[in-house]
Amino acid sequence: MALQKQYFIKVMNKNSQYFIQQDLQFHAKNPSNFGLLPNLDFASAQHNPSCGDSVMIGGKVENGKISHLCFQGSGCVISMAMASKLTQAAVGMSLQEIEQLDESYVEQILGLSLGLNRMKCGLLSIMALQSGAKILKI
Ligand code: FES
Repeated sequence: MALQKQYFIKVMNKNSQYFIQQDLQFHAKNPSNFGLLPNLDFASAQHNPSCGDSVMIGGKVENGKISHLCFQGSGCVISMAMASKLTQAAVGMSLQEIEQLDESYVEQILGLSLGLNRMKCGLLSIMALQSGAKILKI
């Protein structure tokens, strides 16, 4: 029984890893909120000098909360998928909540544990969003 359970867990983990990879590939190829919206309240870009990838995030704010987000950029699957998912997930957050986003949020959104180098890819769009939100607070 214990062996069957271990096998079941192994198969489930393999399947969920596969679906996560498929989901990230889909977002990278068909990103949500890609392109510029008119009348943005902020726009900010981040660049990863080690690979040349970059992400610009723009947004609108209503009553202290993000009401719309959009992005442009080019990069690896992780950076593009994260930007796409972030522009969905961060709508409705306050500027204070945006400031708190960190590595654990990247892993939560992507559904993956990332090493140091790939974490830089995941953080690129969060850093762009946070620097944009900071501009608004000044
Ligand atoms: Fe450049 Fe991922 S390899 S951000």
